[in-house]
Amino acid sequence: MLGKLDLAQLDSIIQKTVEAIDKSKAELFDVAEVAKKEKKRIEEEYELSKHKVIDLGIEVKEIEKELIESKRKLLNANKYFEKFSEEEKRAAYEKTDNLRIELAVKREMEQMAIQRRNELELRVRDAAKMVERTDKLISAVGSAMSCLTGDLQSISVQLENIQQRQGMGMKIIKAQEEERKRVAREIHDGPAQSMSNVVLKAEICEKIMETDMEAAKAEIKSLKAVVKESLQDVRRIIYDLRPMSLDDLGLVPTIQRYINTYIELNGIPVILRTRGNAETLMSIVSLTVFRVTQEALSNIKKYAKAKNVSINLEFLQNDIMLTITDDGIGFDMEEVKKKNFDINSGFGLFGMRERVELLSGKIDITSEKGHGTRISARIPLSPEEVSQNG
Ligand SMILES: Nc1ncnc2c1ncn2[C@@H]1O[C@H](COP(=O)(O)OP(=O)(O)O)[C@@H](O)[C@H]1O
Ligand SMILES: [Mg+2]
Repeated sequence: MLGKLDLAQLDSIIQKTVEAIDKSKAELFDVAEVAKKEKKRIEEEYELSKHKVIDLGIEVKEIEKELIESKRKLLNANKYFEKFSEEEKRAAYEKTDNLRIELAVKREMEQMAIQRRNELELRVRDAAKMVERTDKLISAVGSAMSCLTGDLQSISVQLENIQQRQGMGMKIIKAQEEERKRVAREIHDGPAQSMSNVVLKAEICEKIMETDMEAAKAEIKSLKAVVKESLQDVRRIIYDLRPMSLDDLGLVPTIQRYINTYIELNGIPVILRTRGNAETLMSIVSLTVFRVTQEALSNIKKYAKAKNVSINLEFLQNDIMLTITDDGIGFDMEEVKKKNFDINSGFGLFGMRERVELLSGKIDITSEKGHGTRISARIPLSPEEVSQNG
């Protein structure tokens, strides 16, 4: 089972992972920055090399022209050699030779420049690819991180849900166990004791019957009273477990019947108003509504000193609204909250809240000293958690 600590640990792991990714993202930004600068530098160099190739080309062309001219002159000098001095002829030779050498050098330089330009062209392409790749990587890391944090966070939310469910299950089991204890104690204190009393009284009867019939009759009379009483106890215990009439008669008639008895026994006027109806009501829903009503009325009897009590039961499209109001002495909510509500005390205010929330419902309990008490609960007609209630 996952404890609270594990969730905290998980959160810190998520936090650290996110931080690590954030850091590498920042580093990636640096890399991208460097790659962009490098690309720009190579591009500039490439531009220069292109111009150099063009310039050298022009120079080569010019030298070629000059060489042609020089060759032509040399040809003339040879043709009409009598017109040219030896000096002039040698100069023409030298110039042509020099131009040839110069052309060869320039052509070599041009070739080198072309090679450099081609190399730079490739490097520009590589640098562009590198920039593109780092950009892609940055956006990939960004979306990976949002995926990761989203997923991890939802995992922790899911784990929390699971824990809550586990907690819920434990509460239900505990509540069931407490309820069994309560019933066992009630049977033990009530009917079980009465029954042993009955056996005892029956034995006394047996003995005195032969000698004193009148005393035996009196004993049987008291025996009858004990049996009657414990029969009532048994009925009450069964009723407290689950009023059968909830299934037989339905929610509203059962509440009405309960109120009628309540008024008769306690003399507190209770008015029940209903609006709408539900064709079929899940039994856990009607039981919860009944229990909240029962506990509220029991508290009113015990504490409120109320003159008027009203119960409103409204069937809405998806919910059932229950409101119980009394004009009694009220109580200090903070004070009562501080009291530790023992689950053994039965279906108290705390239990009301538990049960209603277990059905994904909402309950509001408001009270003020001297201003009465109001309990209003909204319970979904088809609560999701019901499957867990067993
Ligand atoms: N309708 C009411 N009017 C006045 N006080 C109330 C009313 N309902 C509850 N209380 C106060 O709130 C306390 C808690 O009620 P509850 O949870 O039902 O526990 P318990 O009934 O076992 O005392 C009561 O002890 C009482 O002081
Ligand atoms: Mg109570």
